[in-house]
Amino acid sequence: MIIGGSASQRLAAGIAKELDETLCPLETRRFPDGERYIRIGGNIESDAIVIQSTGYPQDENLLELFLILRTLKSLDVTNIKVVIPYFGYGRQEKRFKNGEAISAAVIAELLETTGATEIFSINLHEDGLCDMFNIPTYNLSAMPLIADYIGEILEDPLIVAPDKGALSFADEIATILGCECDYLEKTRISPDEVETKTKNLDVKNKEAVIIDDIISTGGTIVNASRILSKHGASKVLVSCVHPVMVEDALLKIFATGVDDVIATDTLNSDVSVISVASLLAKFLR
Ligand code: R5P
Repeated sequence: MIIGGSASQRLAAGIAKELDETLCPLETRRFPDGERYIRIGGNIESDAIVIQSTGYPQDENLLELFLILRTLKSLDVTNIKVVIPYFGYGRQEKRFKNGEAISAAVIAELLETTGATEIFSINLHEDGLCDMFNIPTYNLSAMPLIADYIGEILEDPLIVAPDKGALSFADEIATILGCECDYLEKTRISPDEVETKTKNLDVKNKEAVIIDDIISTGGTIVNASRILSKHGASKVLVSCVHPVMVEDALLKIFATGVDDVIATDTLNSDVSVISVASLLAKFLR
C-alpha cells in the first residue's frame, strides 16, 4: 500500500511509478467546523508506505499524518514505512532558551506512538535527529541529484555555502562535480533576520551556485546573492533541497538578480524541478 498525504501527492505518485505500484485511495476533507477527516480506501495490506512532508505551510499536514498512521495501526498494518521528505520542526532540535519545547523530539515520539515502524527523510536539518527515534531512521541526501542537475547546465561552477553549517552540502556537490567550493559567514539575529559577512571571495567572472538545505524566509540567500554579485560573479544560481519559501521569499531572492533558483520536490513550489522520487524509491524497494 502506498499512501500519499495531501502535502506530497505528486511525489507519492512519482514514487509509486518508480516502484511499479498504484497509489491507495485516500479521502481527506474537513468537517464544517474545520476539523480534519481522513479515510483510507482500497484493500488494507499488512505493509504500508506513507508519504507526507510536514511543517510549513500547515501544521494540518502533521495532524493528517498522525491520523493516517494511527488508522493503519488500528487496522493491523504491522509494517509502516513513513517517508517525510521535508521534516518540519527539525530546526527546533534542541532547547536554545530555557523552557522551550524540543519540538523535533515531540514529533519523533508522536510518529512512533501513532504507528511508524521506519522513517525515511531527506537532508534532515541535523543528522542527530535520527537519534531521537527508537525505530530505524534513514537520512538520505539529495545533494547528488542537485550535483547532476548543476553538472548539466554549468561547466565549472564555484559552489558557495551561505554559512558554515551548509558547507558539508556544498562540499558534497563540489566533490561530485570536481569543482571548487567556499562559504560565507552568517550570524542569525532572529528567526527572520540574518547578517552575512562580506568575505574575501574569489568569484570574479565565475558562475557561482549557492547551496543550502532549506530556504525559509529567503534572508540567508538574499544576503549571499548580493555578496556574490558585488564580488563580480558572472552568474549566480541558487539551489536548495527544501523550498519552504515563506510568503514572498522567492520574489525577494529573484529581486537580487539571481539567474535561477533550483530546488527538489520534497515540498511543492514553483522551483521544485528536481524530483527525489527515484532516490526514495531506491531505498524503499
Ligand atoms: C540554517 O541553518 C539553514 O541551513 C538555512 O540556512 C536557513 O534555514 C534558511 O533560512 P532563511 O531562508 O529564513 O534565511
